[in-house]
Amino acid sequence: MIKILGISGSLRAGSSNNIVMKIVAGIMPENVEFTIYEGLGSLPHFNDPEIIPPEVEDFRHLLKEANGVFICTPEYAFGVPGSLKNALDWTVGAGDFDRKPVALVTASSVGDKGHASLLQTLTAISADIVEGGTLLISFIRSKLNQKGEMIDPVTSEALRSVVDALIKRVEWCLSATGD
Ligand SMILES: Cc1cc2nc3c(=O)[nH]c(=O)nc-3n(C[C@H](O)[C@H](O)[C@H](O)COP(=O)(O)O)c2cc1C
Repeated sequence: MIKILGISGSLRAGSSNNIVMKIVAGIMPENVEFTIYEGLGSLPHFNDPEIIPPEVEDFRHLLKEANGVFICTPEYAFGVPGSLKNALDWTVGAGDFDRKPVALVTASSVGDKGHASLLQTLTAISADIVEGGTLLISFIRSKLNQKGEMIDPVTSEALRSVVDALIKRVEWCLSATGD
């Protein structure tokens, strides 16, 4: 089984990104174990402590186990949501994202600035940003109905394509390392 860790950048109860993440979970191929990270809101603020907090250890363990990461996030105040950025800051020293295949979906009202900023951060932490694995979904709320379904067929197709690109890249990496 391929292990993919999903990280949503929104902690809001009615989050559009959490809905998109559930849609993504539903279109993952059968050979994928897709785990959605639930600990973003419990991570302490980044610091440089002598003893790593257990929440951070757990996050790093999930990243280590994952063959790839699927991030889905809004843009807040023209940038990356603080909770998501905080989580990524914890990985800088440890290199948890080093060469890790990552897909990035930014789903927001507009979202272009947060999307660009997060791509820079992912580059800084040496993530393997998958070709064809990035997607900006603007006007996200108009593309979801009350039942949490995607009602825009173009976006549905684009999400499938992102998932496909991520899984293909992970499979290629696994075959290259003989795993
Ligand atoms: C604190 C806050 C700041 C926001 N700032 C932006 C922004 O800078 N750009 C943007 O496109 N949308 C912005 N929005 C609107 C969000 O894109 C929209 O609410 C989206 O649904 C948020 O994703 P979520 O539902 O997953 O939390 C903001 C929303 C909130 C709550």
